[in-house]
Amino acid sequence: MSISQIARSISQSATLKLNETAALMRDKGEPIIHLGGGEPKSKPPLDALVTAAGLLNSGEIRYTPPDGIPALKQAIVRYTEEFYGRAVSPQMVMAAGGAKQAIMVALQAILNPQEEVIFPAPYWVSYPDMARLCGAVPVVVHPEDGTFQPTLRDIEQKVGPYTRAVIINSPNNPSGVMYSEQFIAEIVEFCEKRSLYLIMDDIYHRLIFDGRRPISCYKYAREQGENSKLIVINGVSKQYAMTGFRIGWAVANKLLIAAMTNILGHQTSGPSVLLQQAAVGAINGVQTSVDTLRLTLENNRNVLMDRLKTFSGVKITKPDGTFYCFADFRSFNKDSKKLAEFILDKVRVVTVPGVEFGMDGFLRISFCGTVKDITEGIDRMKWALDPNSPNELYLGNRKLIRDWT
Ligand SMILES: Cc1ncc(COP(=O)(O)O)c(C=O)c1O
Repeated sequence: MSISQIARSISQSATLKLNETAALMRDKGEPIIHLGGGEPKSKPPLDALVTAAGLLNSGEIRYTPPDGIPALKQAIVRYTEEFYGRAVSPQMVMAAGGAKQAIMVALQAILNPQEEVIFPAPYWVSYPDMARLCGAVPVVVHPEDGTFQPTLRDIEQKVGPYTRAVIINSPNNPSGVMYSEQFIAEIVEFCEKRSLYLIMDDIYHRLIFDGRRPISCYKYAREQGENSKLIVINGVSKQYAMTGFRIGWAVANKLLIAAMTNILGHQTSGPSVLLQQAAVGAINGVQTSVDTLRLTLENNRNVLMDRLKTFSGVKITKPDGTFYCFADFRSFNKDSKKLAEFILDKVRVVTVPGVEFGMDGFLRISFCGTVKDITEGIDRMKWALDPNSPNELYLGNRKLIRDWT
C-alpha cells in the first residue's frame, strides 16, 4: 500500500494502544489492574452535564464559528484572568477538540518543514509525532543533571538556526514534576529574546499538591502585544474529568489565533457545540469538583509513594502534581517495553514504558484510579520483580506460581 512519507513517520499512540490491549484482556475476564491510565475516574461537574443536556433537549445542534462559540471564548477569557492574572480579548482565544488539537494546530501554524521544535524529556508521548506531522523535526533535551527539572542551559544548548519553538509541560506528564518558577521565568525571557515560540502546555496546572499554586508564564512576559510568541494551552479534560468531551484551547496573539482558526476551519470546523456548551458549564460553574479531585489525587499520590518506598530497587521522584509517577526501574530491566510486557504478562498490571516518553528503564505509573488498584497493583509488581517474593500469589481465586528468577 502506498501511504505518504508523513504517515509512515508516525507511530500509533503508545498509550492508546495500551488501553486497547488492556480492554481486550479485561473483556476476556483477566483480572487487569490499569496503572497506565490518563484520565480521572470522577464524574464531570454537574454544571457541565446540565448545560449540555439543556442544549441537547432544544435540538439546536448546529455549526459554530470554528474558533468556538462566544460563550466559551468568554469563559476562557475569564479563566485566563482568574488563573493567569492576564486580561485577554476573545480574538486571542481559540477552542479546539482537546488540548491535543490546540497544540497540533498551533504547531501547524508556526512550523515550516525541517524546522525544529525543542522539548525536555521526559515528554508527553504525542509531541514528537505532532512535530513530524508538520514535516518538522522534534529535538529532545535531556536534563544534564539526570533529574526531571530541565535548566535553561540544557535548552539553550539545543537551540540552533532551525529552532522555531519550545514546548514546556509543567506539571509534567509523565514525571508529575512541576518546573521551578525560576525556570519558567528564564524560559519565557529566553524565548522572547531569541524570538522563539513558547508553547506552555498547562493542562495539569490546577492538579498540583502540597499547597502549590499554578505559575503564570505571563508574569514574566515583557511582550504582551501582537509580537508575543507565547501560546498557552489548557482544557477541560483533566481538571474537570471531562476527557471524552474533547474540549481544549489556545491563548495567543490575535494574528496567530486567526491563522490557527483558518487551519481548524478546514479540519473540523471546530468542536461540537454540545461539548462546547458543556465546557462553558464546567468553567463557569461551581469549582468544588476540581478541589475534590485534587485532594483525591494528592491522597492517591501519598499512598503510591508509601507503597513504592518499600519496593527496593525502584527509585522515585515525588510528583508535585498530575496523576503520574515516573519511577526508575533500571535496576530490574533497562528495557522498559520488555519490563512493562513482563509485568502485564505475569501479574496483569498495566504500566506505560518510559521509552515512550523518551527515557528508557522507567515506567509511568498512574494514580488516577482507586487506592485499592494502586496498592494491589504495586504489590503484584513487587511480587513479580522481587526475587525474595514468596512462590505463590492469589489473584482472586487464581493461584500464580513464581517460576522465574
Ligand atoms: C501533557 C498533555 N498535554 C495534552 C494532553 C491532551 O489533552 P486533551 O484530552 O485535552 O486533548 C494530554 C493528555 O493526556 C497531556 O497529558
